[in-house]
Formats: sequence, C-alpha cells, structure tokens
Amino acid sequence: MDGMETTVRDLMTSPAVTCAADDSLATAAHVMQEADTGSVVVTDDGKVVGILTERDLLRAAAGDGDPGREQVRLWMTARPDVLGPEERVDAAWASLTSHHYRHLPVVEDQRCVGVVSLRDLMGVARIRPATETSGDVPAGLEGVVVAETTIGDVRGQEGFFHYRQYSAVDLADERSLEDVWHLLFRGELPDAVASAAFADEVRGRRVMPPGLATLLPALSRRGSPLDVLRTAVSVLGAELGWRPTHDIDADELYDQAVGLCAVVPTILAAAHRLRTGHEPVEPRGDLGFAANYLFMLTGEEPSPLHARAIEQYMILTIDHGFNASTFTARVVTSTGADLGAAIVAAIGALSGPLHGGAPSRALDMLDAIGTPERADAYIRAAVEGGERIMGFGHRVYKTDDPRSVLLRSVTERLGGPLVEFSQSVERTTVDVLAELKPGRQLYTNVEFYAGVVMHTCGIPREMFTPTFAAGRTIGWSTHVMEQASHNRLIRPAARYAGPPPPQPVPPAGG
Ligand SMILES: CC(C)(COP(=O)(O)OP(=O)(O)OC[C@H]1O[C@@H](n2cnc3c(N)ncnc32)[C@H](O)[C@@H]1OP(=O)(O)O)[C@@H](O)C(=O)NCCC(=O)NCCS
Repeated sequence: MDGMETTVRDLMTSPAVTCAADDSLATAAHVMQEADTGSVVVTDDGKVVGILTERDLLRAAAGDGDPGREQVRLWMTARPDVLGPEERVDAAWASLTSHHYRHLPVVEDQRCVGVVSLRDLMGVARIRPATETSGDVPAGLEGVVVAETTIGDVRGQEGFFHYRQYSAVDLADERSLEDVWHLLFRGELPDAVASAAFADEVRGRRVMPPGLATLLPALSRRGSPLDVLRTAVSVLGAELGWRPTHDIDADELYDQAVGLCAVVPTILAAAHRLRTGHEPVEPRGDLGFAANYLFMLTGEEPSPLHARAIEQYMILTIDHGFNASTFTARVVTSTGADLGAAIVAAIGALSGPLHGGAPSRALDMLDAIGTPERADAYIRAAVEGGERIMGFGHRVYKTDDPRSVLLRSVTERLGGPLVEFSQSVERTTVDVLAELKPGRQLYTNVEFYAGVVMHTCGIPREMFTPTFAAGRTIGWSTHVMEQASHNRLIRPAARYAGPPPPQPVPPAGG
C-alpha cells in the first residue's frame, strides 16, 4: 500500500472506544483494557470533548488520587486535535509527530467515527521519521523498519537470508554470480538463453575508461585499496558524465550500474598490482566474474575450485538487509544524487571498522593462536580480558550465520592446512564463549571462514574487504535503483538536547 495515498479512513479503528468526561479513571482503564487499545475518546452526545491515553493513566497512577473516584475530565487532553477521515496519511503523520501525540480522534460531521494511532500509521509510512515518533527509538536504529524493499531480507532468529524469493545459500549452491546479479537487477533468475546474454553483456564492460586508467597509478600509491576504490569510483562517475538519478530514467541508471559493477573488480585488481609493483592485468572476457577477478589480481588463471569458492563467497555477500553501507547508498540516492555519489558514500560507510568486517583480523587471530592446543587458553584470556573474538557474534544472527555454514563447507572442499585448524578453533571458541558469556548465543559470523577461504584462494589480506566490496557493489547498486524508482527524500529528525533557545546573543568582543 502506498503510504502517501492512503487515507485516515483506511487505517482508523472504528468505532472508537469511548467514555464520558464524568466517568471514573477506573472505568476508562477498564474500557481500554477490554478493547485492548491505548486510548479512549471522551465524548459528550457523540461529540469529541477529549482524549485519555495510557500515558494519562500512568501520570494519574503516580499521584495519590483514587482511580475509582477521580474523573476522566481531570486527566484527559481536552479539545484534542482531530483528523477528518479523508485526510491523507502523511497529514495525519505530521499532526501526530509534530505534537508528539500517539492517538488522534477521527471526526466526521462533528461526530467521532474512529481513532487513529501512531502504530496504525507506522504500518504504511514508507519512511518513519524515527526520532519524531517517540523517545523509544532504539540506539543505532536497531530493528527499526525504515523502508519497504523487494530485494531481500535477513531473518536473524532462523539463521536465514534471501535475495528476492530465493534462499541466498541455495543461490550460492546452484547458480553463477552473473545469474544472481541478473536476479537482483532484473527481478528474476535468467533461463539458459538470458543467462548467456547477460554474462556477455556484463563481460563486455570490464575495461576501465582511459581517464581513470591513466590516473590509477598515482591514486594507488596512497591510502588503502578501499580508499583507492572510493576515489576511483568518483573519477569514473565524473569521466562518464553520470547525471543525478533525479534527472535520468531507469534505463540510463541501469546501464550505469551494469558498467560500474563490471569495472569495480578491474579497478581493485589493478590498484593492488600497482601498489605491489606490478603492471595491471587486462580483464579476460572468457572468464566468469570471480575467476576473472582472481586472474587480474594474481596474473594467473585460477583453478575452477578456487574460482568457484570465491564466486560462492561473493554471492553470499552481495546483499544483507539494511546494513550501514546499503542504507547510506539509499540515503544519498534519496537526495537525487548520481550513482557515483551513492556508491562512494557506501564505500565510506563500509570502511569503518564496525562494518567493514574483520576477515583479516580473524585470520590474524588464527596466526596468533598458532596450534589447536593453544586455542582454549588464548580465547579464555582474550574474553576474560574483555576482548572481542574476531569472526564471532552478530547483531542479527543469534544462531549459526548461514553464510559461515556454507563457507565452512567451502573450506572443506578447498582443503589445506587451515581447514582442520580453523574448525577446531571454532569449536573451542564456541565452547569457551558459551561458558564465559552464557546466554549470549555467540557463533561464527561470515568473517571467520571468509578469511580462510580468501587466503586459501590466494587473495592477500589487504584485499579481503575490497573483495567483499567488489560483490557488494551489485547489492548497493540494486538498492540505488530501487530507491530511485520510487523515491522520497530520507530526512529524519533529531530531538534537540542542548541549552534551551533562544538565548540572547552576546555582543561581539564582549
Ligand atoms: C558483530 C558484533 C559487533 C555484534 O555486536 P552486538 O550485537 O552489538 O553485540 P553486543 O556488543 O551487544 O554483545 C552482547 C554480548 O556478547 C559479547 N560478545 C559479542 N560478540 C563477542 C565476541 N566476538 N567475543 C566475545 N564476546 C562477544 C559482548 O561482550 C556482550 O557481552 P556482555 O553482555 O557481557 O557485555 C560483535 O559480536 C563483535 O564485536 N564481534 C567481533 C567482531 C566481528 O566479528 N565483526 C564482524 C561482524 S560480521
């Protein structure tokens, strides 16, 4: 349902639960309880004279009056703002939030015909101005729904996530990265013919434009590979003349997004080679996305085993709900800015240590542990010292992270010295965390085995997070296109908490 076209009549609870001004608070509370509502409209001969809410009852309960005797009129909000049934939801939203109301009576022909609550509106509001709604928005917006999407979702309690209507893990098991890219960009999995056509379309877009290729050696000498990518995407957008999403149609944005996602691995691989004193390797049109990336990075054609392992890793990390970088890309797009601006901002968000992930840190930890027998003492000392064990725990997953389950099986396929060792460290860590942090439900997250997989496939540690970004650019771009297709400026509010204004401005020089 479109929140902007819905009217109050579509949402209101009707008839409203009512009482009279001379009823007692106890009667009003009973009426509310019976109807399981948070408010009662106070009427006199059908006309609204006030509204009494749970909050009023709480205030009354804090006093020493007798709820069996105190009258509603003493505690209600008299002559409350009201809404008409035909008013649009955004107008209702504005009334409720600007006055910090939670409920408003709906009046038609001077008679109360219903009541509408903040909760009713939240069901349809496309973007909830979180801080305006109440004081109970959780820090970090944890669990707050800020948009509708058809791209995918994460179900933390079940250990499940999906792209469109398919399990992401099943997609990583069954399909190529290009097919999943098609699913995200075009909304459906391709059949064999469409799959070949899309693979051709994207392979033809891997070469960097000349301006960027000329600048890259100078860029690559500074900062981390992710910094280089951020600057390179800026240059790319400028060189290709990307215009604001506000001014272009869906086809033009799609074309830009395909070109961007196809060229990002080329930029990253070239940056890495330049930083390590090697010439960039030209992309090969006969290799898939992941195989070509590994080829450009190392200069050698990867084995099918390695290519498929990295492809599966990239499929598993293409998208993951409204994480910080994805949300950032959508916020920037909502201003009508161009694709380059949105992706540069997303890369910036990803670069922060709380988001960019810790696959290299998890691997550093395995190095520091050294042998399986030392794991217990190492993990115990770290947790007792208040440290976080890298690659364990997740904000959303309170069970096995489905990505780590699949990546664990990928490491088994790959073999190598780290496989048994990492599994034994995982078992020890889960046990020690269960003992020292009971009830916290801490298991491996995607980062733990991602590091093992990438390392075994020959990707250097400083390229772990950039490799994540190479695949995630497809997810970010899908969100940019979705946001642009039915855009509304994302503009929340903050509650001012400084000294009360207006204060007199002290004269200059005083
Ligand atoms: C991912 C992460 C940031 C999620 O954190 P969160 O949802 O905010 O969880 P909290 O910080 O509320 O932690 C809850 C409890 O579990 C503990 N905990 C969480 N992750 C832990 C870890 N990796 N090692 C040890 N203890 C951990 C916390 O110390 C806290 O314990 P307390 O209740 O005694 O204070 C966190 O698990 C973490 O820091 N993991 C390590 C870094 C990492 O692997 N990052 C990659 C993420 S994909």
